[in-house]
This record gives sequence, structure tokens and C-alpha cells, in this order.
Amino acid sequence: MGPPGSGKGTQAQGLVRERGWVQLSTGDLFRDHIKRGTELGRTAKRFIDKGEYVPDLVTVDMVRQRLTQIPRDTRVVFDGFPRTVAQTDELDELLAEFDRSVDAVLLLEVPRTELLTRLGKRAKEQGRTDDTPEVIGRRLDVYERQTRPVVEHYKTRGIVRLVDGVGTVDQIAARLAKAAAE
Ligand code: AP5
Ligand code: MG
Repeated sequence: MGPPGSGKGTQAQGLVRERGWVQLSTGDLFRDHIKRGTELGRTAKRFIDKGEYVPDLVTVDMVRQRLTQIPRDTRVVFDGFPRTVAQTDELDELLAEFDRSVDAVLLLEVPRTELLTRLGKRAKEQGRTDDTPEVIGRRLDVYERQTRPVVEHYKTRGIVRLVDGVGTVDQIAARLAKAAAE
């Protein structure tokens, strides 16, 4: 977990490469649907381009579908899910269906100024439609309002591991590996 631009995708890809885990990024799944022009993609785009979250039902259905494709003995690193308290409850039910559970929450901590720098840079390089200054601000606010309570929820369960998300990609990967092994 972590706010927009904190490195969730970058670090999840590292875990996939080095450990054979499978990344489940709801943002990437939505962008793939948008690219393929599916109905789900059209729905998702309306929310994503405003920096709002896609409705829980739509999101959870998509996650369920993706989970059915992943062998049960493979570790899944969720990137950008769950993001609301409702999704958190749904995830527990969903994982129970698959005889799985959430082992740990790795939370990347990055100050807002650094997030703005990173996303501003990516806007120039890649032109992601939600990387405009206005939408970036909205995404950061939505994270604080809707996802911060999810972090608190997992903290009460004692499974959150805080990871300093500032530094080189390799430095942060090493911190994550340590936190994941604790
Ligand atoms: P999503 O795609 O998840 O976007 P996000 O959370 O806004 O985060 P990003 O992907 O922008 O950042 P990241 O943390 O993955 O960092 P990254 O590695 O890319 O979601 C997009 C939208 O989809 C949401 O706004 C919402 O509308 C919808 N959505 C997704 N999930 C949903 C859900 N569960 N429910 C409802 N709606 C949902 O790194 C960022 C940049 O920084 C990159 O350019 C990278 O190269 C660079 N960088 C990475 N690490 C470093 C470093 N150590 N130093 C310097 N730069 C770095
Ligand atoms: Mg990402």
C-alpha cells in the first residue's frame, strides 16, 4: 500500500522478478480494460480520469476474476487494492473462498512533495491521463480520505509494516524484503 506515486507498481514488479510472486494491480487491470475498449474499461475511465475511485462492486468483481487465474500456492502482491474499507471486508471474504488470507501489509511512506515530483516527472515522460496537476491533487486527497482508514484497519490487526519509500529503487526493495521477512 501507499499513496499515488509511492512506488507500489515499481516495487511490486521487483518482487515478481525476484521471488516469482504475482502482482495484482487494480490500476493496471483497469488501464488494460481501457486499452481494449471493454465496457468495464469505459466505466472505469470515467472515474480514473477524475482521480476518483472506481465503484467497489466493479473493482471487487474484477479482482475475483483475476484471482481465479492464479494458482493457490502462488503469493499474490496486491498493488492498489484494497483501497476502501468496503473493499477490505470484501477481500477477506474473497480470500476465504480461495482458502487464503492477508499475511502482511507493506506500507510505503513517501512525503507529499516527493510524490508530486515523481508524478510530475512521469506526466512528462508517459502522459498518463490521470497525471495532470489537478487530478494528481485529487488522487492524493482521495487516498487520505478513503484509503487512510484501510491502513488504520490493518494496523489494528497488527499486520502493517512501515517502509521508508524514499531512496533508490534498490534501497527500497531491500527494505521491503526485510519487512516482508519479519
Ligand atoms: P493506480 O494505477 O493504482 O495509481 P495510483 O495509486 O495513483 O499510483 P501510481 O500507479 O501512480 O503510483 P505507484 O504507487 O504505483 O508508484 P509507481 O511505481 O508507479 O490507480 C489509478 C486509478 O485507478 C485510481 O486513481 C482509481 O481511479 C483506480 N483504481 C485503482 N485501484 C482501485 C481500487 N482498488 N478501487 C477503486 N479504484 C481503483 O511510481 C511512480 C513514479 O515514480 C514512476 O514514474 C516511477 O518510475 C517513479 N519512482 C518509483 N520509485 C521511485 C524512487 N524510489 N525514486 C524516484 N522515483 C521513483
Ligand atoms: Mg501503480
